[in-house]
Amino acid sequence: WGKTGHRVTGEIAQSHLTGKTKRALTDLLDGHSLAFVSTFADDIKADRAYNKFSPWHYVNYPLGINYIDSEKSEEGDIITAIEECRAIIKNKANSREDRVFYLKMLIHFIGDLHQPMHASRAEDKGGNDIQVQWFGQGTNLHSIWDKNLIESYGMTFTELADELGNVSKKERKKIQEGTIYDWVDESHDICAELYDSVKVGDKLGYQYSYKYNDLLFQQLQKGGLRLAKVLNDLFD
Ligand code: ADE
Ligand code: ZN
Ligand code: ZN
Repeated sequence: WGKTGHRVTGEIAQSHLTGKTKRALTDLLDGHSLAFVSTFADDIKADRAYNKFSPWHYVNYPLGINYIDSEKSEEGDIITAIEECRAIIKNKANSREDRVFYLKMLIHFIGDLHQPMHASRAEDKGGNDIQVQWFGQGTNLHSIWDKNLIESYGMTFTELADELGNVSKKERKKIQEGTIYDWVDESHDICAELYDSVKVGDKLGYQYSYKYNDLLFQQLQKGGLRLAKVLNDLFD
């Protein structure tokens, strides 16, 4: 996601943390909100020293198969990244600096896991090579899902989080079921549908934005509630 998507995910998660998790996060994040730190993993991309983390934001594997059965990348992917972040955060023998760094990375990656084009296929770099128009401007299928679609609603991240964050306990429990292995395949299946509905050169705009409004909002909501689950499991 772009900044808005990550902040919505963080803001939704913030309101579903247990007291113990909130206290642990306030300490590690120096009082900053999840929304605020959620974009850190993108901000560090400007520094070449962090190049090795670029492949950690996504995973590509053939459409129609599950992550578990796919050939894994040597550079790591979003799933191995999340596992590594959790292991480093959990181990209190690690320095505070490392635990904070990987916590901020984890908060970002749980968001990206729910952007369907981040659980994608290699041929077109997760839609980055599929050029299309968005309200007459050149862009690509990947960017549409990272940012163009969200921005078309003209809502701030707090407005979006208010819209999506109020769910019953029953609904929340249902969404929080499963593991990152289930969640990545769910995103991957959605990604396959998105490829089917677009071809190179398409002129996309309000029709596309209405068609995928519910799906986009669901993915943001799932990202937020599941981030809360991952953090509560780590700290409570
Ligand atoms: N580069 C290659 N594949 C990608 C993907 N699925 N998402 C983002 N960047 C990528
Ligand atoms: Zn990212
Ligand atoms: Zn992206």
